[in-house]
Amino acid sequence: MTTISCYFESGMKVSEKDGHVVIWGDVLEALRGFVPDGSVDLIFADPPYNIGKNFNGRRDRWKSEEDYLSWCYEWLDLCIRKLKKNGSFYVMAATQNMPYFDIFLRKKLTILSRIVWSYDSSGVQAKKYFGSLYEPVLFCVKNKKDYTFNADDILVEARTGAKRKLIDYRKSVPTVYNSKKVPGNVWDISRVRYRMSEYEKHPTQKPVALLERIVKASSNPGDIVLDPFSGTFTTSFVAQSLGRNSVGIEIDEDYMKIGLRRLRIREKYNGEMLRREPRTYERQNALTQQHLALFERRPHYGA
Ligand SMILES: C[S@@+](CC[C@H](N)C(=O)[O-])C[C@H]1O[C@@H](n2cnc3c(N)ncnc32)[C@H](O)[C@@H]1O
Repeated sequence: MTTISCYFESGMKVSEKDGHVVIWGDVLEALRGFVPDGSVDLIFADPPYNIGKNFNGRRDRWKSEEDYLSWCYEWLDLCIRKLKKNGSFYVMAATQNMPYFDIFLRKKLTILSRIVWSYDSSGVQAKKYFGSLYEPVLFCVKNKKDYTFNADDILVEARTGAKRKLIDYRKSVPTVYNSKKVPGNVWDISRVRYRMSEYEKHPTQKPVALLERIVKASSNPGDIVLDPFSGTFTTSFVAQSLGRNSVGIEIDEDYMKIGLRRLRIREKYNGEMLRREPRTYERQNALTQQHLALFERRPHYGA
């Protein structure tokens, strides 16, 4: 299929290929102008946290907490409007802001799980208090009697502590106990590291494993998955690999280009080949190979 791209008067640019849409623009404008109400099956929102991160030169800092929260309430409301009646909404926020999100959302949706994404770090987080090693995620639904939850697709090993498989001898034929379970609400998933193959140049890229669990649990093949703050387009990338459709919104042009590449929507953008930036060690390896090749080509002198 061919890629379709179009510019809107506001400057927003939309590219689409094979059911995957990349929108370069502001979240409020894109949600209002491009996404029909009641059309989306699953939304994963990972907004700027108002903690001063540097998103490619755009500072993640609002004048006041009130300003930040009122902006958040605006896009949260829009996301709710875009969801189908049986849709699901996963929202992340900084630990200190999550209580506000929770109180706001519980009046409009049913919050089914308060998930803790926990990870470890070799670095020192804090020396005078307990450093933060988790991020909260809310899992909300519009209708608690009608929503998608594919429990069988996300089963994990139930850790019993036993070295051997436990056998249930009460059955007429002794049977191995079921060793799989639906994960609880504490998710131990490593953060994306520089040396991991999925790494992209972005300060808060979310791991594929985190999105895989969410997309598998709360959507079906062919569904529409929306990410209003796409960053490196992890959500759309996972949606594509699992046969869902996707809509990703991102305000930064460089990050948007990551999306075009990761989703294989474009190979070139404004004449530039879209390539993953090589890591330092990859560049060093390439240089070493070149260096060795140079010596191999030279005639050998001496004995
Ligand atoms: C926390 S990051 C998302 C990371 C993403 N989940 C990933 O896996 O890479 C938030 C993103 O929102 C983008 N952003 C900030 N303000 C925005 C706005 N008004 N509209 C759309 N995107 C925005 C930032 O450029 C940043 O890439």
